[in-house]
Amino acid sequence: MKWTFPIVLALCAPTYSLLRFSCAQLVIDRLDPLVTPGMAPSPHLHQILGGNSFNITMDPEKDMPGESTCTSCSFSEDFSNYWTATLYFKAKNGTYKRVTQKPNVGFDGVNGGMTVYYMQDGLYNFNQVSKVTAFKPGFRMFVGDLNAKTKEQAERFRQLTFTCLQNPSTRDPQILDFPSGPCPEGIMTAVRFPTCWDGKNLDSPDHMAHMSYPETGTFESGGPCPATHPVRVPQLFYEVIWDTAPFNNKDDWPEDGSQPFVWSFGDATGYGNHGDYLFGWKDDALQRAMDSPCYVDCPTLKRQDVAAQNKCTVERKVNEDIDGWADALPGGHQASYVKKRWT
Ligand SMILES: *[C@@H]1O[C@H](CO)[C@@H](O)[C@H](O)[C@H]1NC(C)=O
Ligand SMILES: *[C@@H]1O[C@H](CO)[C@@H](O)[C@H](O)[C@H]1NC(C)=O
Repeated sequence: MKWTFPIVLALCAPTYSLLRFSCAQLVIDRLDPLVTPGMAPSPHLHQILGGNSFNITMDPEKDMPGESTCTSCSFSEDFSNYWTATLYFKAKNGTYKRVTQKPNVGFDGVNGGMTVYYMQDGLYNFNQVSKVTAFKPGFRMFVGDLNAKTKEQAERFRQLTFTCLQNPSTRDPQILDFPSGPCPEGIMTAVRFPTCWDGKNLDSPDHMAHMSYPETGTFESGGPCPATHPVRVPQLFYEVIWDTAPFNNKDDWPEDGSQPFVWSFGDATGYGNHGDYLFGWKDDALQRAMDSPCYVDCPTLKRQDVAAQNKCTVERKVNEDIDGWADALPGGHQASYVKKRWT
């Protein structure tokens, strides 16, 4: 198994901080308080995790996460909201069925959701040394481009990836579009947010301009932040495991050889992979964690058990069928394909 952190941890005293934790599903709903606040339904369906104050609008002036009374995340001081689009399977007969999420390695029993990381430095790098500044109350951001349809367009964002899981621990290769063939243990999507903040704006019109990638190199290589965005923030990173295995029967796949999975907004290339974040850690909990020796787990943070995580849910506000076989995606979207043969 590739997941060897705990073993390494036992061998060398950690002086670094890397949080890796699960957040269960809070709700699946057609809401997006970051990109389309006030709109119910929003244009496409999302899976949403975190604090239960999540609502149609999340006013940055009002510390909405602070109004949460529970969170679906394992660190119980984290009332942030994390969300991504959902995934659908399009059968040969043209109808759609939603693909559910399943827990990552080490998070058995968690209802759907995803794995969230906050890191000082690059993933799978034990040398977490960079000083990072936690996000501020009201902070929010987005990464990705729903309309991206080519590799070049997707490459403007670093590391919005797909991994075809041969087993639960497969982590490579990481590609920018949907895997072309069936994946025995599901498809993992990853969303890595930029790590340099302008230090002033909690948001921006496109929800991205207040953030930047390092000026040179990558976050992993320790590249410096540009002068326009000088504040180094934690690398926020989502991993979602889509339980595509029930749909791996090739007889149900399109006859033209294209792969059958499609994002809830209609993108069947995968290049439109994106994620949303709304900061909501209580008081200084995130800064404290990033300044403490934490590795995966974190003694300075309060934890809750899986049952408590799964119990924290909110009612859907948009009433529509999201689980049956349907002729269109929620919101009326249809899959837009780029043909790709996999046989
Ligand atoms: C959510 O927002 C609606 C109005 O948009 C409001 O009526 C409702 O009380 C809010 N729910 C919570 C839990 O804050
Ligand atoms: C379409 O195909 C799926 C998968 O084979 C099947 O479960 C579903 O019932 C079919 N729907 C219709 C309307 O034929």
